Formats: sequence, structure tokens, C-alpha cells
Amino acid sequence: NFTPNAFVEEMVAELKEKLQDDKVVLGLSGGVDSTVAAVLLHQAIGKNLYCIFVNNGLLRKNEFQNVLDQYKGMGLNVKGVDSGDRFLSELAGVSDPETKRKIIGRVFIEVFDDESHLIENVKWLAQGTIYPDVIESVSVKGPSATIKSHHNVGGLPDYMKLKIVEPLRMLFKDEVRRVGASLGIDPELLGRHPFPGPGLSIRILGDITPEKVQILQDVDKVFIDGLKSWGLYDKVWQAGAILLPVNSVGVMGDERTYEKVIALRAVESTDGMTADWVHLPYDFLMKVSNDIINKVKGVNRVVYDISSKPPATIEWE
Ligand code: XMP
Repeated sequence: NFTPNAFVEEMVAELKEKLQDDKVVLGLSGGVDSTVAAVLLHQAIGKNLYCIFVNNGLLRKNEFQNVLDQYKGMGLNVKGVDSGDRFLSELAGVSDPETKRKIIGRVFIEVFDDESHLIENVKWLAQGTIYPDVIESVSVKGPSATIKSHHNVGGLPDYMKLKIVEPLRMLFKDEVRRVGASLGIDPELLGRHPFPGPGLSIRILGDITPEKVQILQDVDKVFIDGLKSWGLYDKVWQAGAILLPVNSVGVMGDERTYEKVIALRAVESTDGMTADWVHLPYDFLMKVSNDIINKVKGVNRVVYDISSKPPATIEWE
């Protein structure tokens, strides 16, 4: 029977013992896992935990600044590194989903590595790896089946000769949330939907441009804010919008338009391995579709994804 308070007490003691006065670097993502790992480590070693939060230019709208402020408010020793332009220029012209993931993984490591070299005498790399990540990173490395290369686990270059510390490695997601709650982390942060490491890049089908990122960020914000204001956000396991690589014909006044199509996706799931599409109320879908088309320039059509996993996946790429 899992008791979060006991876990925190034991883990903080273990981390103190293990890390002593060593410096530790950790990459924050804005997600639940890395945040809980950071707060736990912060309790154990305070300012010797150096957090790095990288903007890859593919986060949700305003997320980089908002989450960075939130981390600072929690007392974490955190540095925000805005590398959006670098990621987007490396991604320019690339359409293949796995290539996008590889580029983002590589550039992230380069940025992170540069930043950790600025911390004198750092000894450890902390990660928010949780138990399902451990299992999945083993299974996707099978000989034929690289289904999607999740870049959060492994893949660090040898030249980053840091020892690894993963305080959440034995925990399931709900246990991580309970640990987070017992550490006093904002319930809203703990209740956030999962968000993929490659961010919006895999929700912009085809090649990525700054304009497309901006359109999708705007659309996504209307959708997510709508879910929150209708009290639906917590009933959904994960939601997001996908920018499709097609234009469709529409009318505006007397004019014919030829603009982008958006797919909305909302799923129920426990672990992301299987998922069902959520029966969002028609009234909500009607409102959000109108809001998207009226507020976001360049979009004239919204569709709703009614596919379950399997055989579809949650993301479209
Ligand atoms: P799929 O699309 O495989 O997604 O049904 C299952 C869950 O994994 C997330 N996902 C990713 N997360 N890096 C990540 O960190 C990735 O490359 C990636 N691909 C998918 C997805 O958002 C869903 O929660």
C-alpha cells in the first residue's frame, strides 16, 4: 500500500545520503514528472539542484514564460533557456515524423549539454523517469519495432559523463501525482494532461514553419481554455489540436476561402497504451469550433477525431 508521505520522507533521506554536497542538473519540461522530481530533489539538496527549462519553440502558447514563473515561485533554482529559433531552423523543411523527433532530441541534448557545462563541477543528472517509461523504453527498442522513439529516456551522449539519479523510477503516474500533492505542488499543475516531448511538432503534420506553430498554438489555446471553462478538462486524459496539411474551401461573406483544417482530439486513457475518444458534448464542440474559426486567422474548418487506440494512435504522427 503506497503512502506518499512515507515515500517523500524516505526518498529525501536517501537522496541526501546519496548526493551529499554534489551538484545535480535536471531538465524541467513543465510536466508532472519532472516537476515532482525537482521538488523532491530540492527538498533534499536545495540550491545544489540546478534546473534547466528549455523552450523548444513547440510548447503550448505562453507556456514557456508561465511555467518558468511558476517554477521560480516554487523556489526552484531554475534557468529558462529560450532556444525556439534554433529548434525551428533545424526543423525547417522536415516532414518525416521520426526525423522530427530525432532532430528535437538531438538539439535538446546539445542545448542541455551546453547549459550543464556552465554549471561548475556538476556530478549528477536527475531525470523524472517513471516506471512506465522504464518499461516502454525497453519494449520500443525491439529489433523491428521502433514504434515511436520517445526521447525522454536514455539516448544521452557518453561525453556527458554524469551519474544518473531517478527518484521516481519505481512509481506509477497516479503515485507521482500523490507524491506531488504531499509535497504541496499546485493541484492544477499536477492535473495537467500529458504533453509529448516533441511538442507541437508532431501535431503539425508535414513540415513546420513559425506561422504554422503560431496558428496551432492559438487553436490549441481556444480548445484547452474551452475544456477548462466547460469543466471538461479533468474528465479528459489528454487533449490537443492537430494542424492538417490540407486546405479546404469555405465561404466568408461573399468570398470563397481556401484555408487550413484543424482536427481536435480528446481521449480517455489510463496509461496512453490504449485510448478511447471522448464523447464531448455537441454544444461544446459547436462553440469551440466557432471560436476557433472566428478567432484564428487561416483556419476555416474543424473536425473531431473519433478514432480509438488501437488501431489509431493518440498522436497523428
Ligand atoms: P501515441 O500517439 O503513441 O501516444 O498513441 C501515446 C502517448 O505518448 C505521447 N507521445 C510522446 N511522448 N515523445 C513523448 O514524450 C514522443 O515522441 C511521443 N509520441 C507520443 C502521446 O502524447 C500520448 O500521451
